[in-house]
Amino acid sequence: MSLPPGFLDELRTRTSLSQVVGRKVLWDNRKSNQGKGDMWAPCPFHQEKSASFHVDDRKGYYYCFGCHAKGDAISFVRETENVGFMEAVEILAQEAGMPMPKRDPQAQQKADRRTELAEVMEAAAGFFRLQLRTGQGGAARDYLARRGMSEATQERFGIGFAPDGWQNLWDHLQGKGVPAELIQAAGLVRESTKGGKPYDVFRNRIMFPIRDARGRCIAFGGRAMDPNDNAKYLNSPETELFDKGRNLYNHGPAREAAGKGLPLIVAEGYMDVIALVEAGFGAAVAPLGTAVTENQLQLLWRISDEPIVALDGDAAGLRAAYRVIDLALPLMESGKSLRFALMPEGKDPDDLIRAEGAKGVQAVLHRALPMVQLLWKRETEGKVFDSPERKAALDKALRETILQIKDPSLRSHYGQEIKDLRWQLFRARPSGTGPRSRRDWKAPPPATDSAKLSLLVAAGAEGQDRLREAVILAALLSTPQIIAEFDTQVEVMTCSDPVHAALRDLLLRSDGSDPAALRAEAENRIGAEALESLFAARHVAITPCVRNPSDVDLARQTVAEELAKLDARRGLLAEIAEASEDLDGLADEALTWRLAQAAQAMTLAERAQQVDSAEYDTGPNGARMDKDERSAFAALLEKIESPKSGS
Ligand code: UTP
Ligand code: MN
Repeated sequence: MSLPPGFLDELRTRTSLSQVVGRKVLWDNRKSNQGKGDMWAPCPFHQEKSASFHVDDRKGYYYCFGCHAKGDAISFVRETENVGFMEAVEILAQEAGMPMPKRDPQAQQKADRRTELAEVMEAAAGFFRLQLRTGQGGAARDYLARRGMSEATQERFGIGFAPDGWQNLWDHLQGKGVPAELIQAAGLVRESTKGGKPYDVFRNRIMFPIRDARGRCIAFGGRAMDPNDNAKYLNSPETELFDKGRNLYNHGPAREAAGKGLPLIVAEGYMDVIALVEAGFGAAVAPLGTAVTENQLQLLWRISDEPIVALDGDAAGLRAAYRVIDLALPLMESGKSLRFALMPEGKDPDDLIRAEGAKGVQAVLHRALPMVQLLWKRETEGKVFDSPERKAALDKALRETILQIKDPSLRSHYGQEIKDLRWQLFRARPSGTGPRSRRDWKAPPPATDSAKLSLLVAAGAEGQDRLREAVILAALLSTPQIIAEFDTQVEVMTCSDPVHAALRDLLLRSDGSDPAALRAEAENRIGAEALESLFAARHVAITPCVRNPSDVDLARQTVAEELAKLDARRGLLAEIAEASEDLDGLADEALTWRLAQAAQAMTLAERAQQVDSAEYDTGPNGARMDKDERSAFAALLEKIESPKSGS
């Protein structure tokens, strides 16, 4: 439907953006100036504590200095309500008391035609459902029962059966008076070459209705009952209703479930989606018999910032994932990404659920890799980098990959992350004690505790160091017997605040024999409140070894892992400071960008007379730089920018 000229302007004039936004955020009253229509809040599009999200009520625009989200009331409603453009316009128009204009006649005609076709599809779906319940459907019912699909599930997904024979559906629809042309246009029958009656496309198949986001039946997937059939799955041809690259199986219900907080999972097949939904993962979708398309990726990102792609546990699954990565890289924006969950060897999600139930899926989802790690895996797995040429080739491949990311902020973060992984790969680790000294670079170990991992991720890469320090300190305080094993590393651990530093020094002096005494000493040193808040911080509180201090091995493992990660990132900073690596182009870009952001942050902070706590600068990008980072960057600023003047 097209809108008359001026309609949107009128809508924007009548809409108060701050009112629309105000339903989703808590204004920072200190920073905001209501009289001037100048409003600030923590950004609803990314995780943050400060208020970088700005609404200019008079102009009707918002902009986030952190994640760069920007737009007007319509885009705000689209993003936050998960709706399309027209739906957003309708929502706002209704609030503003503006009647929606009538559809133009041509669009109306097209809509009517679609409605007619959808009705034919619905009639076919009804016919297939009925066939599954009648005599001819016996074998199909047995098959579904063997595959563990309950009758309730069959009903929920409208599963049906197309009986064997050439004209069952045709005769049925004709008998109901449906015009031949519509049956053909719906893609349900094919013209006979011999000039007789058209024949049914789907024969002797289990039928899966495919619905659009609004629930209208637009196509079918049909699974062969006969294992010798040359197409295991047969899908409806493309029709006026069905564009297979622009729809998703289970789209509508998944969108709703994701809105309620369930993770959005992208599986490969219809049976996988059904099994996932039944196992409680209601926000599951699948592409429709093809590889994921750009349009489908955009649909996914409308529903969720970080869909999880479930990969079949075979080489084809991994190849499919790599294709998705290539598709996603140029389209990614801040806040939009993907994760990849690898199914166990040879299994798809359906198999996994049959074998291990929902728990098995949960475990796999928790271990899902961020895209950057899969990208790394692709470039490095099974390869040996024992010569400068091979290392250079890797750098080139990585650089080219990362350059595909258009969003500069995101690209620089990928650059940093890749440098981190690269550092782990090439830099010989200092020989430590205990479990830390051996590390397999090929598979960067996923955090053992998934809840902790997701919290760390949510907090953003910049906050991670601080969280890691807290976990390390809390773990050592709780299980001090292991301090001695880590003393050299703890000794050189840089702390991001004085409280952490004080605890570190205290730990180094302790002989680790008496946890209670150590705790009392800590309380004495930093105060009961600070100590309590260290342990009460959620990421610390849920760390298993903190909750269960008697599990010495667990504590040892946690501390080793957290120290290694902290070390890797800080080593990375040192490396940047040396500016000695081959990924200079990217590092330069990343550094220049962050420096520019930091400079902007400081100016802004001064202007607003809101200098943040002395330990951190919180940039308008939400990034935090501690003093070490800042001075490392500052030292490099001239080096980077002077030879490139004019850029
Ligand atoms: P799979 O071959 O992995 O099937 O195809 P599946 O989902 O595990 O099915 P079951 O468990 O054997 O019944 C995954 C998806 O690829 C498409 C279908 O969309 C299917 O769900 N496909 C597969 C086809 O379109 N045609 C085919 O011949 C095979
Ligand atoms: Mn399967």
